[in-house]
Amino acid sequence: MRSTCCVSSGTVVFLLTLVGLSFLTSASVIPAVFLGVPDKPENGLYDPSGKVAILTVNNFNDTVLRQNRSLLVEFYNTFCGHCQRYAPHYKALAERLHPWRETLLVAAIDCNAFENTGICRDYEIFGYPTVRYFSPGYMCKEGNYGQNINPHTEINELTANMAQRLAAENDTDSLPNFPNLHSLTENESKTLFNGLDSNKKFVILIYEPENTTVGLESILQFHLWPDVQVRRINDLNLAKKFQIDGVRYKIATVDREGNVVPYGVTEDTPQAYIATVESFLEAQHFKPRSEKPPKAVANLAQNQADDGSGRSIIISEVLSNKHLVYQADLEMALRQMLLNEIPKVHDIRGEQLLALQRILGVLQRYNPLGPQGNLVIRRLHEYVVNANESLGGGDFQTEFEHLNKTFGPIFSSNQFVGCVASQHNKRGYTCSLWTLFHHLTVQAARQEVSNDPLEVLTAIHGYVKFFFGCTHCSEHFQAMATRRKIWNVPNKDEAVLWLWAAHNEVNNRLAGDETEDPKFPKIQFPSEASCSQCHKSDPAVSSSKSSINWDKDAVLSFLKNIHNPGYVSRYGVENEAVLQPSLEKLRQKRMIGNVFSEMDMRMGMLLYGFCIVMMVLAFKLFALKSYRKKPYMHDILGKV
Ligand SMILES: Cc1cc2nc3c(=O)[nH]c(=O)nc-3n(C[C@H](O)[C@H](O)[C@H](O)COP(=O)(O)OP(=O)(O)OC[C@H]3O[C@@H](n4cnc5c(N)ncnc54)[C@H](O)[C@@H]3O)c2cc1C
Ligand SMILES: *[C@@H]1O[C@H](CO)[C@@H](O)[C@H](O)[C@H]1NC(C)=O
Ligand SMILES: *[C@@H]1O[C@H](CO)[C@@H](O)[C@H](O)[C@H]1NC(C)=O
Ligand SMILES: *[C@@H]1O[C@H](CO)[C@@H](O)[C@H](O)[C@H]1NC(C)=O
Ligand SMILES: *[C@@H]1O[C@H](CO)[C@@H](O)[C@H](O)[C@H]1NC(C)=O
Ligand SMILES: *[C@@H]1O[C@H](CO)[C@@H](O)[C@H](O)[C@H]1NC(C)=O
Ligand SMILES: *[C@@H]1O[C@H](CO)[C@@H](O)[C@H](O)[C@H]1NC(C)=O
Ligand SMILES: *[C@@H]1O[C@H](CO)[C@@H](O)[C@H](O)[C@H]1NC(C)=O
Repeated sequence: MRSTCCVSSGTVVFLLTLVGLSFLTSASVIPAVFLGVPDKPENGLYDPSGKVAILTVNNFNDTVLRQNRSLLVEFYNTFCGHCQRYAPHYKALAERLHPWRETLLVAAIDCNAFENTGICRDYEIFGYPTVRYFSPGYMCKEGNYGQNINPHTEINELTANMAQRLAAENDTDSLPNFPNLHSLTENESKTLFNGLDSNKKFVILIYEPENTTVGLESILQFHLWPDVQVRRINDLNLAKKFQIDGVRYKIATVDREGNVVPYGVTEDTPQAYIATVESFLEAQHFKPRSEKPPKAVANLAQNQADDGSGRSIIISEVLSNKHLVYQADLEMALRQMLLNEIPKVHDIRGEQLLALQRILGVLQRYNPLGPQGNLVIRRLHEYVVNANESLGGGDFQTEFEHLNKTFGPIFSSNQFVGCVASQHNKRGYTCSLWTLFHHLTVQAARQEVSNDPLEVLTAIHGYVKFFFGCTHCSEHFQAMATRRKIWNVPNKDEAVLWLWAAHNEVNNRLAGDETEDPKFPKIQFPSEASCSQCHKSDPAVSSSKSSINWDKDAVLSFLKNIHNPGYVSRYGVENEAVLQPSLEKLRQKRMIGNVFSEMDMRMGMLLYGFCIVMMVLAFKLFALKSYRKKPYMHDILGKV
């Protein structure tokens, strides 16, 4: 009974393999020029024409250090779903604080971009997004990397908090960019226009009750209006001199002749005060100072234009091959790990160092790269194992660059293929990281290298905990690992299935989320179309659509098959010479495939059918003899 089931699922898997092979064939037909469009680092989460100033390694020091204004910086990772969901809030904050820009600039830096790795390391960013406040004159000193601001503070509260911080930057004499944020004194009230620019036609007085920021926010809001000067008054008795009673009238305008006009405000919110002042300014036909065009960051605009046909060709390839695993994605994951996430950690020690040693150990044992890549990872593993107490992320990066220079190149591609996105900032790295993780669990289960069933899961868990730059993902994953009893996984096959089930749980949670790519909806993997055998057709269960009745043997077989290195697709690979030559055999088969494709279709179908029947027969014969040892079709194929 069990044997037949296995044979039939094996047959399906084998059919699948054939389909996979035929697609490999079609891949070789696509002109290389279409594939050569590298997936350039994208703009990050913010548009250069928007209100959030974009920082990169090229303008960071010039924008952050020794400034005569304050600065708010968000350190984020483009791929982090939580950062993506946060971006609209940060944009709204930047929009709200835009009138303050000469006093407080709102900026952001993408820590996911390779060139910014060093900055995010130097500023000791531990989670994403991190928002930091920098005072005027800030200098980068050890132990002072800006003040953490809770990014999830509600926008009105955060605005009020910023206004108070700016008011507390008390050394205003050397801060000509700051408006006068002090509250009006008795003496000043006598000579309101003293020391003011001759442009100023009105002084606008705002009565600011205790513990509110209506005055401060109004001052900052109208700082760049040349015709008026806004001041705040905290003392009600002083305010009364200007017909402000704190009940009916809360704002007063004073012109150079000393004429006072009081105004009421509908609500005690900064917005209501600002709206009242605005309507006055409008009535006077005053305008804010015209804005300088924003400084363009050179390489950004260029990248934006780069969304050529390469991507859409890849998308249609991938959509017609939903379950293939691509070499390019495995490499993209490694690239981000080795060049960005690990080097981004300032000081790697203790448990974190152990986690690094473990993941490199696993990568070394089940390396998806070619011979040079194997060598580099092996040396890198030795390097981290020899770091006894601590290791700087920068030193790791230097060592990697040195090894790559000596033995490289190690990567055959530089673009996402299976993890290609149809929209900016979707999929990409996190998708490739899952793919690599599955790949590692499968390689461990296929080989006898280690008999520790937890070897790969422990390494993955440690990496996600200490290095994965999606902070919320990391927290979720750890909670899930405990809940799903990761440490009780009994063997390597179960480890493959553990990760599969865990990933499906995440898919389930994220289905329909705004971070989902509409062309690649989250499904319970594999779909029925990809592996009908994986879905048991038990009528009792299938009637309740909520959960799928999986045939776990078939799922395991399916995963082992799609992650078989022999069937990892090289679509999108640019430098095949870097990879293991072991696919030579496959390449010869592919040539046969080419012959097929040029033949009469019916003839081709006939041969296909014949071939399948022969293979099924061969498999049955073989499976009867050595079912226990070789339960999976790819093992047999490996011997052909
Ligand atoms: C460890 C980890 C935890 C994450 N946690 C979160 C989180 O908490 N919140 C959040 O917003 N994002 C999280 N992400 C990101 C999120 O899971 C996706 O990676 C991201 O949304 C991109 O999705 P995708 O559609 O490209 O496919 P992904 O879900 O990334 O899958 C990549 C590929 O793996 C294959 N696949 C899909 N499911 C399975 C499966 N069950 N078994 C085997 N292969 C499968 C498919 O071919 C798929 O294209 C996490 C990522 C990782 C690596
Ligand atoms: C930026 O400033 C820091 C600290 O002063 C310095 O170490 C670093 O080299 C500077 N970076 C650039 C690109 O100038
Ligand atoms: C403030 O700093 C900016 C940038 O360094 C400079 O362009 C501007 O002139 C300075 N403003 C004043 C008033 O010093
Ligand atoms: C600013 O305020 C702080 C704390 O109140 C005080 O220690 C410091 O001397 C003040 N600086 C100036 C220039 O007023
Ligand atoms: C106000 O002005 C008077 C006279 O010009 C001066 O003596 C007094 O010190 C001033 N008060 C403050 C608080 O500056
Ligand atoms: C202002 O805040 C302080 C400290 O939180 C509090 O003691 C005081 O009562 C508040 N005043 C008003 C008018 O709410
Ligand atoms: C770590 O310890 C080993 C053996 O004790 C030693 O050979 C090696 O040099 C040490 N490595 C570093 C980086 O200190
Ligand atoms: C590795 O070295 C090659 C040259 O051998 C170089 O082209 C490539 O950019 C380097 N890659 C990385 C990731 O540093």
